[in-house]
Order: sequence, then structure tokens, then C-alpha cells
Amino acid sequence: MNNIDSYTHLRGESIYVDDIPLQAETLFAAVYDSPVAHGKIISIDVSEAEKIKGVVRVITAKDIPGENQIGGIVPDEELLASTHVHFCGMPIVLVVAETEEIARTAVKKIKAEIERLPVITDPREAKEKGELIIPPRTFKLDNTGDAWKDCDYIFEGRTETNGQEHLYIETQGAYALPQENGSIKIYSSTQGPTAAQRTAARVLNIPMHQIEVDTTRLGGGFGGKEDQATTWAVMCALATHLTKRPVKYCLHRMEDMRMTGKRHPYSSDFKIGLNKELKILAYEVSFYQNAGAAADLSPAVMERTLFHCTNSYFIPNVKATAYSCRTNLPPNTAFRGFGGPQSMFVIEAAIAKVAEALNLPATVIQEKNLIQAGDEFPYGQKADSEAPACWHKTVELYDPEKLRQEINEFNSNNKHYKKGLAMMPICFGISFTKTPMNQARALVHVYTDGSIGISTGAVEMGQGVNTKIAQVAAGIFSVDLKRIKINSTNTWRIANTSPSAASATADLNGKATQMACMEILKRMKQVIADEFNVSATAVEIKEETIFINNEKTDWDWKKAVMATYLRRVSLSEHAHYSPPGIHFDATIEKGHPFAYHTYGTAIVIATVDCLRGTYEFDAVKVVHDFGKSMNEIIDRGQCEGGIVQGIGWMTMEEIVYDKDGKLRSNALSTYKVPDIYSVPKEISIHALETTKDNLAILRSKAVGEPPLMYGIGAYFALRNAIKAFNPAAEIAFDAPMTAEKVLMALYGK
Ligand code: MOS
Repeated sequence: MNNIDSYTHLRGESIYVDDIPLQAETLFAAVYDSPVAHGKIISIDVSEAEKIKGVVRVITAKDIPGENQIGGIVPDEELLASTHVHFCGMPIVLVVAETEEIARTAVKKIKAEIERLPVITDPREAKEKGELIIPPRTFKLDNTGDAWKDCDYIFEGRTETNGQEHLYIETQGAYALPQENGSIKIYSSTQGPTAAQRTAARVLNIPMHQIEVDTTRLGGGFGGKEDQATTWAVMCALATHLTKRPVKYCLHRMEDMRMTGKRHPYSSDFKIGLNKELKILAYEVSFYQNAGAAADLSPAVMERTLFHCTNSYFIPNVKATAYSCRTNLPPNTAFRGFGGPQSMFVIEAAIAKVAEALNLPATVIQEKNLIQAGDEFPYGQKADSEAPACWHKTVELYDPEKLRQEINEFNSNNKHYKKGLAMMPICFGISFTKTPMNQARALVHVYTDGSIGISTGAVEMGQGVNTKIAQVAAGIFSVDLKRIKINSTNTWRIANTSPSAASATADLNGKATQMACMEILKRMKQVIADEFNVSATAVEIKEETIFINNEKTDWDWKKAVMATYLRRVSLSEHAHYSPPGIHFDATIEKGHPFAYHTYGTAIVIATVDCLRGTYEFDAVKVVHDFGKSMNEIIDRGQCEGGIVQGIGWMTMEEIVYDKDGKLRSNALSTYKVPDIYSVPKEISIHALETTKDNLAILRSKAVGEPPLMYGIGAYFALRNAIKAFNPAAEIAFDAPMTAEKVLMALYGK
């Protein structure tokens, strides 16, 4: 089934923040942001800006009526810098004016005298200087200390992964409107409407019930709008509060790239030990997370890094420590995978290092160590059987041995082109690792004409969650999908929502919808049963027709709805869902944090042009554990998008900050993302058929984040291709593997 948004998307009729018709008197905002990465504010001169005709208000930290604080997990981030700036791009002054042009012109007239302080951009340096966002955490399984003596092979190494721009098509933005009695309505392009509401209330010093946040859909989020959309929603709310006029701010692309955080870069050290049979016996790893200048979501991202440190493998002795390091970069934030991809890269690098040293394919080591049903993850939860199932199905379907022979043949026949193959198993835990966040609510109304309106906490951002929720409701009521409308996500209809994140949105909100619909259906069946003088168990609704004891009646859906209304029985329901059985004790770092895991295996094949260092991907062949997909078009779309985004992170997307903390890759001319020409020539996705029960919505497993991690295989496929050209190449485990780096490696020692 197609995404229910496809019709308006194709016609350009879908509404994003920048498409909302403007109210009269609307003002436009722009931000003056710090030109230096660390410093003490000596003075701010806004006088020239204030003189410009059309400038209505110039707002600084001292104008904030409540707390100048937007930090969600740790209160360490000001909305507008008061005394110090901590990163290039940190907002200092908010200007509101009659037009966008005037607002941005005024910003250019602002002068700040800032005394420069030392700048840290490197997470290891931050750690050395004691600049940690939170105390370090360590996950342990058994005892690595005792295990090293049993190892026949021990290798150590270091890895680097860089950040990644979210590059949602719709930039960050919000539009705030004054309502009566001091209330404010905010249209926000946010994954977390409640976070925007809560933070606006805090900054304005008014109760949350005065703030209505409304989100129709996003033009992409990818994690970048889980926390960082709040800033712009609150900026607009603040300006509306002070001017009593509507205020809109949609960031230009370069403002967005400069002022917002990205995927966390990580620097990591590993030590891996194996016995002669190539069983990994011990693994120690230290992660240095580049958190940027404030916590944002870094502690949660760091936690997910630890949860995924062994990827799809069982390692009996593990010690993983993570440091969240404060640097003078924009606060880094959620990005599809949320710290998981970063740690999965490290274990794959460790395995590749062993394989290269022992001169055997990494796949031999990978396969021997796949986590089996009942094996324990370092955090205490036990694995299911899908890791080996996906791997073996991949081998059976795509025959990597044969592919490898073909590649070897190609490589011996071609001097200037070399191919490389890598396999990438994935295992991703589904649930917010912060257990209390795993809850959702749905509000379902059946109207007297038989149409159905549904509100949930889910935010549609292209991932198709609204389509899935509509499918859930249509299935329960057994009505045509056209009867169902999914409403915007709104904090006055659905309260205290978790952000749409952690791949769990369809599960949590879908199940809440399921519960609400079941309750209404139960009441309707009782009404019908009373009318027909039978018991409720005799009543069934099938494709909008009412059946009694399997006999068709002349009642249809609409008649049943009207009968329920006339009997004065409620056709509305608000349901709450929280997944059972999940828990985690952070004092011992053990528990059962995930409702389940999503697994998969990919084969990635790369071809390198050994004269130029350029490359392309011949194929990504996947067996993916969808559970039982409730919407194959959407789920395959998520896989394809995730794979390409993952390959981008690993290969061409290169974020560059200079040593002064200034973003040099600050535009689409200097930051390259995959376009249609860099998509693999073939993406094959086979669904692993699993029938067992799980906590996924209609057994359709979460698919948002996991496929991104297949992209990690691209790095290792490139590495193998380079080695085919230059076996002596010593290649640092340093992603992204840009064409420049490939060229250096091809001709390096
Ligand atoms: Mo997503 S990276 O969990 O916002």
C-alpha cells in the first residue's frame, strides 16, 4: 500500500511550516550567532540594527522572562548566550522585523566584542582536560582481564568516525501565533512537540497548558529535529510573547548547517582477542564521543553506543567504556542509529584488523561469532535466533563465495579497477533506552457519518508512520482506509509525548491506536448485539458489513455508528500504551532494555577506480528481518534510504571544522551527500520470514534506523578493493573513506 501522503507530495500540496498561510501582522525572525567558538562576551552593540526601519524588536538573554535554558537532559545550554559563547553558531541575539530580508540585514549590523578563550575540538583533548558532559559509563560482561591469557591472537587499534549533516530537505523552522490570555500556538517542524512545549513554557515562565505545539509533518528529521527543533520553536514563541504578534523563522540552509549539531564524531580504541578457532574471547573498547558544547541528547546517544558495542556478535568477555566529551562545536545530537552505528563500526574495524593480519576474509570471523539464540548481550538481555538466520539466508540467496571468486577474477583481469566485497550483519535494539519514554497515547473519534479521525503522538516525517496507523485502525474496524484521517500531532490533543524517535514510533503509537479502536469496536458490537438481541460475541464487522453469527445483515458500518450514537454510547476513546517487560538498572548496567532486536545482513560490493580514487557501489544485497512487514512499500523504502544514507556517512559526507571550531563544510557546495548517481547500482532486499510473536505493531518490526548500518559495509568493501590494488596499503580506520583518502591509500605504503 502506498504512503497516504504520496498524492499530496506528488502534487506539491503537502503542507510544511514554510507553506502555512501567514496571518496578518506576522513578523520574521533571524539570529545573530557567535562568530567565535569559545569566548567571554564583553559587549553586544545592537544600536545599528535597531535603527533599521522595519526592525520591531531586538531580543537578548536579558529579555527572557523565564529560564534561559533549553537543555533537556542536562541544564547546560542557554537559548541566547548571556555571558559566554561555547561554539561558532551559538545564538546570541534574536531580531524580529517586518520582513525576512530586514531581519537578516539587521543581524549583519550587530557587533559583539568577544574575548577569545581556548578552543577544544578534539574529544580526547577534552577528556584529558576533564571536560566531560556526564561521568563515564562502563558495560561489562564477565572478565576481560582473565580472558587475554587464553587468546592466541590479540590486536589493538584506533578508529575514527566523523559526524554527519542531517540535511533534512525542510530546514529547521517554526511559526508562533499569539492566542487569547497569553497562550501561544507554535507550528514547529519537530520530532518532539512535547519537548518544544515544555521548553517554551520554561523559557517564557508560563504553564505548559498555555503552549500548543502543532506538527503536520516534517520534510525529514533523521534525529536532527528530535531535540534541536526546540530551539527555533522557543525562539519564535519568545518573540511572540514579547511582541504579541505572530513570528516565523525558517532557517536558510547555511544558517541551519552552521547553527545546529550533527551526528556525533567518535574516536575509539579497541583491543580484541581470539583463540585459534577464531572465536572472539575478549573485547575492550573505549569510546570518546565528541558531544559538542552542551549535553543535548549526548548522554542517551552514548548509552546506545554502549548497547551496540558488540553488534551482532557474542563475545563472552567485554569491557566497554564511553566518555561524552565537551568540545567547542555545536552540540551534537540524535542521528538515525543514535550512537549505535558509531560503536558497530569499531567492532567491525577490530574484526577487519584481525582478518587482514591473518590474511583471511573477515566473513570467516564474523560468521563464527554471530550471536545465537540465548546468548547474552553485555547488558544482560538475551538474543533471539535472527542473527545467524539472516546471515545464513544471505549466504544461501546471494552466494558470497561465488561473488568473491568473480571479484578475484575481475581483479586479476583489471589493472586500474579493483572490486571489494564486505558483509555487514546488523543487530539493533528497539525501544528508547530510557525506559520511561516507552509510552504513547492515541485519541480516536468515530464521527456520525462513519468517518474516523485519529490523533497520536507520532510525527510523520516521511517514514510513513501515519500510513501504518491508518492501516491499524482500518484493520480493526474493517473499514475502507479512505474513512480514516490522521490528524496533525498536537500537544493539546495528545499530551506528554515522547519524540518520534528510536525507530519505535509506529510500535508505540500504533499499539495505542489499536487499543483505542478495540475499545470503540467493543462498545459498537454491544450496541449491535442489543439491537439484534444476540450476545456481543456473535457480532462481526467485515468490510463495512455487519454479520451476526456469520450471517450477513442489512446493517453496514454507517448504520452501526449511528445506532451507537443514538444509544448515547461513546464513539471516542483515548488509549495509553506502554510495552511490557522492559527495564534497565543503570547502577549495574544490566536489564532487558529492548522490546526486541531488529537484525539483518548485507553484502556490499564496491568498485574502485585506481587511477582516480573514485568509486561506485555495484550492489548491496540484503536479508532483512522485517518480522512480518505490514507495509512492504514503506519498509523497503526505509531500507533503501537508510542504506544510501549509511553509505554517505561512511564514504563521501565529510564534515570539516577548522582548529578554531569554524565549520568549513558549511554549504551544499562543500558538503557532498549521495545523489541518485551515487546510489548502488543494485539494492536487493529479501525479507526474512519470521512468524514468532514479538512486541512490534502487527509483528511488523521497527525499520527506521537499522538499515542505515548496512552502509558500514561500504567502508570495508572499499578497504578490500584498495588492498586488492595495493596489498601493502596501511589504511587507518578513519571514516568517511572519501575519494581523496582512497587515492592516498592506493599509492600509500
Ligand atoms: Mo532518532 S536518531 O532516534 O531521532
